[in-house]
Amino acid sequence: MKYLLGIDIGTSGTKTVLFDESGIPQAKTTIEYPMRQPRNGWAEQDPDDWWNAVASGIKAVLAAEPHIAEDIAAIGLSGQMHGLVMLDKHGKVLRPSIIWCDQRTGAECEQMKNIVGEKRILEITANPPMTGFTASKILWVQNNEPDIYAKCAHILLPKDYIRYKLTGEYATEVSDASGMQLMDVAGRCWSGEILEKLHIDRALLGAMHESPDVTGTVHKEASDATGIIVGTPVVGGAGDNPAAAIGTGIVKEGSAFTSIGTSAVIYAVSDEPRIDMKGRVHSLCASVPGKWTVMSCTQAAGLSLRWLRDTCCVPEIEKSAEQGIDPYEIMTSMASNISPGSLGLIFLPYLMGERSPHPDPNCRGVFFGLSAIHGREHMIRAVMEGVAFSQLECVEVFREMGVPVSDMTATGGGARSALWRKMLADLYGCPVTGLSSDEGGALGAALLAGVGAGVYASVEQAADICVAKTAAMENDDSMHRQYMPYYDLYKRLYKVLKPEFGSLATLTC
Ligand code: XUL
Repeated sequence: MKYLLGIDIGTSGTKTVLFDESGIPQAKTTIEYPMRQPRNGWAEQDPDDWWNAVASGIKAVLAAEPHIAEDIAAIGLSGQMHGLVMLDKHGKVLRPSIIWCDQRTGAECEQMKNIVGEKRILEITANPPMTGFTASKILWVQNNEPDIYAKCAHILLPKDYIRYKLTGEYATEVSDASGMQLMDVAGRCWSGEILEKLHIDRALLGAMHESPDVTGTVHKEASDATGIIVGTPVVGGAGDNPAAAIGTGIVKEGSAFTSIGTSAVIYAVSDEPRIDMKGRVHSLCASVPGKWTVMSCTQAAGLSLRWLRDTCCVPEIEKSAEQGIDPYEIMTSMASNISPGSLGLIFLPYLMGERSPHPDPNCRGVFFGLSAIHGREHMIRAVMEGVAFSQLECVEVFREMGVPVSDMTATGGGARSALWRKMLADLYGCPVTGLSSDEGGALGAALLAGVGAGVYASVEQAADICVAKTAAMENDDSMHRQYMPYYDLYKRLYKVLKPEFGSLATLTC
């Protein structure tokens, strides 16, 4: 029996899972780390926190059966997308990573439009300039920290930094790299034109691979730090969402998933690049060779509920510690006693600005309609509904683009909540399927590793063998009708508040 190791470098923590060839987890661990917000709208992490979590995570999963390391056929990496990691010529981290949800680069997006032209950027990179994507973050360092930029010898994405630590290789793969906004997305390669116009030296970027390709092997230093055998192959892997696509079996055109993690994402596979000219959703290379994806990103999904837990739900945290249960279970059971519409309380989930369907670094979260009648249970339900409303707004864009969304699977920590899955089914107007074992990105990364190591013939075959779905959460038309007046108001609120978010940004910058 061969084993596969899937490592998902997320925003709240790194999950390391050892799978057998049928995709059954044998051992797993998650190690958390902080996200720092030095200013309103900024978000940074320390790449060495990721590496320490990976090294300790691997040691922990191997601890039960150290000899299993000899039977690990390959390692797959998945990780938070778009984060900027800069290394000097010795491979040392130059500054904290500016991660995906950081919104500091509005001016750099304007700069990109002026230098390259918005239409040309869309034609080449399949997306308009995005504060969330990596290119504008690189320009921010060029503009604001020229001394650091001068020392920069390598630019990597978060999971690709871990690849470097494991193998010594500077490399990436198409699914994550297309979220850097430096690629010719249709051609699946770096764009010479974009790099030249943005004054980014091609030599700073890693070698480009397809997701299942072997990109290097574990070296001695990494072996000493983790317990993995020297020479174990490390495949390209994928960004966390394209990896989760494989881990949820979304590998062919026609099916889609909703992931509710720190961010929320809707992800559909397409046979060719499909671009939303209004930039409300993203077009990227999929982790399946020869396929692309349309993907939305709500910046603060689980992040909003976590924020509410940490700022307002101290009694629930205390109760959960006493009873030995997860605070989110207590919170969602409180919310399940409240009717759709949260007694007239609407939440706009813009705690970290927004990307889909409103690319807007200035917008911020709102509780609208707060009254003395409301308690924490209404606030919890309103946060969950606000995130679900945002997903429906994105699904409406997919449908407008002709991307079918009628077969939806839910994944991510938030999808463990039956209440959240039911809200999505009622709002989308279609059943929402769950997964028997939801290891999302870690499973997807492990399956890519299996393809690279020859355990499976293709990504499609790996998903067929290893992904099992549960019975669908059925949608209910009468609930849909109850939600609609609140959803319509939710949509109007962004339009009304948009100019005022801009005014607020001038006060707080
Ligand atoms: C996707 C995105 C987020 C991160 C979160 O575009 O930015 O989903 O990948 O980990």
